[in-house]
Amino acid sequence: MEELIHQAAEILAAKKNVVALTGAGISVESGIPPFRGKGGLWEKIDPMKYAHIDAFIKDPAEVWDVLIKSMKEVLDRARPNAAHKALFRLERAGILKTIITQNVDGLHQAAGSKDVIEFHGSFAVQRCMDCHATFETGSLKLDSLPPMCQCGGILRPDVVFFGELIPPNHLKRSQLLAAGCDAMLVIGTSATVEPAAYMPVIAKRSGAVVIEVNPEPTPLTRLADMALMGKAGKVMSLLAEEVEKLIRQW
Ligand code: OAD
Repeated sequence: MEELIHQAAEILAAKKNVVALTGAGISVESGIPPFRGKGGLWEKIDPMKYAHIDAFIKDPAEVWDVLIKSMKEVLDRARPNAAHKALFRLERAGILKTIITQNVDGLHQAAGSKDVIEFHGSFAVQRCMDCHATFETGSLKLDSLPPMCQCGGILRPDVVFFGELIPPNHLKRSQLLAAGCDAMLVIGTSATVEPAAYMPVIAKRSGAVVIEVNPEPTPLTRLADMALMGKAGKVMSLLAEEVEKLIRQW
C-alpha cells in the first residue's frame, strides 16, 4: 500500500489540475453512516418511501420524523475528519482545484476547502416549498413537524431527493471539470448513483488519471488507473503527506 500511495502522490504532485469526487464513505469516520453496505441507512429505511420527493409531498411530517430529523441530529455533531483535512491540504498545495461532493454535510467547507460543488445540495439550508425563502438548518425549531415558513409553507432541506434533478449549473460545471482535469480522485463513493457516478467516466475518457480510494471494490474499480483500498482517513492523510513531501523536494 505504501508504494501505491507513493506512486499516486507522484502522479498528483505532477498534475496541475486535479478534481475530487467524494461520497458518503469520506464522512463515515466523522460518524455519519453511509447509504449502502454494512450499517448503511438504506438497510434500515426504504429510500423510495422516505427519500423520494413524491413521499415527501405525500407526507412531509412522516419524512421529517423518520429521516430528516435524525439526519439533522447526526450532522449537527459531525466534524471534518483526516480525509476532509487532507483534501484541504491538497488544495493548499496548489494540486486540487475543486471537490465535487455527493454529500450534503458541509464537512469539506468546514475543513477549509474553498471550491466545493454540492452535487446533491446542502443540508445546511432549508427552503420553503411555497415562497422559496431559505433558512439556516441550525436555526430550526423542531417542536412540531414538519417545520413551517412564516408564509405557511412547508420547509424542506435544500437537498436533491430521489425523483429530482441535479441543479443544472452543478451538473454542467461538474461535467466540464471532469472533461478538463488531469486527474480525478474518487473517494468513498459506491459509484452507483447517476449522474454523479458518470463524472469519473468522463474524466477517464478525456485522458485523466483516475485514482479511487475505497476499502471495497466498486463498479469504478475496473476503470480506475489506481485503486487505493483502505479507509479514507488513513489513505488520504498518507497521500497528502507524500504530496507535500514531493513538492518540498522539487
Ligand atoms: P454509498 O453509501 O452508496 O457508498 C459509500 C461508499 O463508501 C462505499 O463504496 C463504501 O465501501 C465506502 N466507504 C465506507 N467506509 C469508508 C471509509 N472509511 N473510507 C472510504 N470509503 C468508505 O454512498 P454514495 O456513493 O455517496 O443520494 O451514495 C451516492 C448517493 O446515494 C448519495 O449522495 C445519496 C444516496 O442515495 C441522495 O441523497 C440524492
